[in-house]
Amino acid sequence: MRALAILGSPRRYGNTAILTEAVLDELESLGYKKNLIYLQEKNIKYCLGCGTCLMKGYCIHKDDMQEIIEEIKRCRVLILASPVYYLNVTAQMKTFIDRMLAFGHRPSLGGYGASITVYAGVGNAENVARYLNRILKSWGIVPVGYLTAYAVLPGEVCEENIKAAKELGKKIAKAVDDKMASEITEEDLKLRDQLINLIKKYRGIMKADYEFWKEKIPKDST
Ligand SMILES: Cc1cc2nc3c(=O)[nH]c(=O)nc-3n(C[C@H](O)[C@H](O)[C@H](O)COP(=O)(O)O)c2cc1C
Repeated sequence: MRALAILGSPRRYGNTAILTEAVLDELESLGYKKNLIYLQEKNIKYCLGCGTCLMKGYCIHKDDMQEIIEEIKRCRVLILASPVYYLNVTAQMKTFIDRMLAFGHRPSLGGYGASITVYAGVGNAENVARYLNRILKSWGIVPVGYLTAYAVLPGEVCEENIKAAKELGKKIAKAVDDKMASEITEEDLKLRDQLINLIKKYRGIMKADYEFWKEKIPKDST
């Protein structure tokens, strides 16, 4: 089984990277094949908002996203990791997320995931981690948990954080073994309804989305 981490920090050997590698190492020790994608060194163009992915099912850009998506489809575990930049994820992580729009509209990825965020004590790292887990869920991935840490200079994450990263690795592996199901919250149902309403309203344009959802839309919904 494969475990893939998407690293959104521009610092390849920074705090987020250290924790991400600790989670991956733990998963490797439990039999997973690990891989880390460092977004900073990838060629990922901005989403143009053209809607081709929603209409025709493919993206018009030809860049490194195709190979990244192939890796994502092959993995059983997906970890999203980003430091907090201006109270949110980094631009690298957000650019990557935007380019995954087709999966947000047609949640066809399976497997399990988790998020890692590091911050310098300004704002709320948990909110950012929860945001990343919300994104995973929107793609069809079961979020197992998240890890947040405080650190400023590269390498400042402490032993306790690394221990927590290893625990997260164990928790993810257990969730896979136990075939843990996604918890369905009120927010999930609301977002799903909002998305379906959007796709129904623009079904003439969002054709790929409508094809995906049409059998799943309750017959009595308007
Ligand atoms: C452009 C920029 C914006 C940042 N914004 C925040 C922020 O809003 N809140 C915070 O606590 N830390 C912020 N930080 C600090 C980083 O989150 C912190 O240094 C973190 O340890 C970096 O992780 P890394 O080593 O994985 O890159 C910011 C850093 C930069 C460079």
